[in-house]
Amino acid sequence: MKRLSMIKITLSFMVLVLAFAPQAQASEGSHDLEEQHWSFSGPFGTFDRGALQRGFQVYTQVCAACHSLKYLSYRNLSDLGYDESQIKAIAAENTAMDGPNDEGEMFERPMRPSDAFKSPYSNDQEARYANNGALPPDLSLIAKARAGGADYIYGILTGYEEPPEGVVLGNGQHWNKVMPGNKIAMAAPLSDDIVGYSDESPTTKEQYSRDVAQFLTWAAEPKMEIRKRTGIKVILFLLVFAGIMYAVKRKIWVGVKH
Ligand code: HEC
Repeated sequence: MKRLSMIKITLSFMVLVLAFAPQAQASEGSHDLEEQHWSFSGPFGTFDRGALQRGFQVYTQVCAACHSLKYLSYRNLSDLGYDESQIKAIAAENTAMDGPNDEGEMFERPMRPSDAFKSPYSNDQEARYANNGALPPDLSLIAKARAGGADYIYGILTGYEEPPEGVVLGNGQHWNKVMPGNKIAMAAPLSDDIVGYSDESPTTKEQYSRDVAQFLTWAAEPKMEIRKRTGIKVILFLLVFAGIMYAVKRKIWVGVKH
């Protein structure tokens, strides 16, 4: 009897730890981060397709001038609800170097859905040179690489402020309340009405920031929805299985007990 209750206590403890672990991880190490409500958080969360498409638009029209997204291919955009011909058209807006051709020469061609997203610079040196010596990081995994994920991206994009009195900023530096150390080499990239949306969503800096933060969360884990769905199925299976095992155990031991 004693051993059984020990097992029960250990199990409940493990469940508690598992339930609270992700939150604990998300809030650590962040500076002045406000938690936002996201449709994709929690075990049943899903992405909002409209927000993903708008976020992709913000990325393409604003962020792509400096940041690459090199671990995504255009064909991954089917997750956002675009069909094959739309994806072909999106890819073909950019060109890639290919070759050599039959005459041994490299040539430019329109990009295809299987190509990785076009990077704004050909190498890190060029990227630094164009940005005052600071390297704009690739954004494919940024939502996973920074504590806070989407909250952090939203926070950075909306966190620009006047520096406190007495603080001297270096050339090309800006004050941001969310950036660790507060000094960031990226000028505030967003302001109201710079991207035109085709739906009714407000064209504000906050809305752009929310949408692009959600888009980058998807970029860092395009299979999140499948992972969560599988997790729920596995837990359901384990519950049913535990019930069956308990019934079997009772059946086997029924003669021994008395
Ligand atoms: C004019 C170029 C430029 C544009 C446009 C730009 N960025 Fe940046 N970004 C930078 C540079 C440079 C850095 C590096 C800053 C540093 O290390 O201090 C950076 C850093 C970042 C970081 C990382 C902060 C960190 O924790 O290291 C994020 C996130 C980010 N940018 C997101 C975006 C998003 C989203 C957009 C579009 C809305 C965008 N950026 C548009 C140049 C740009």
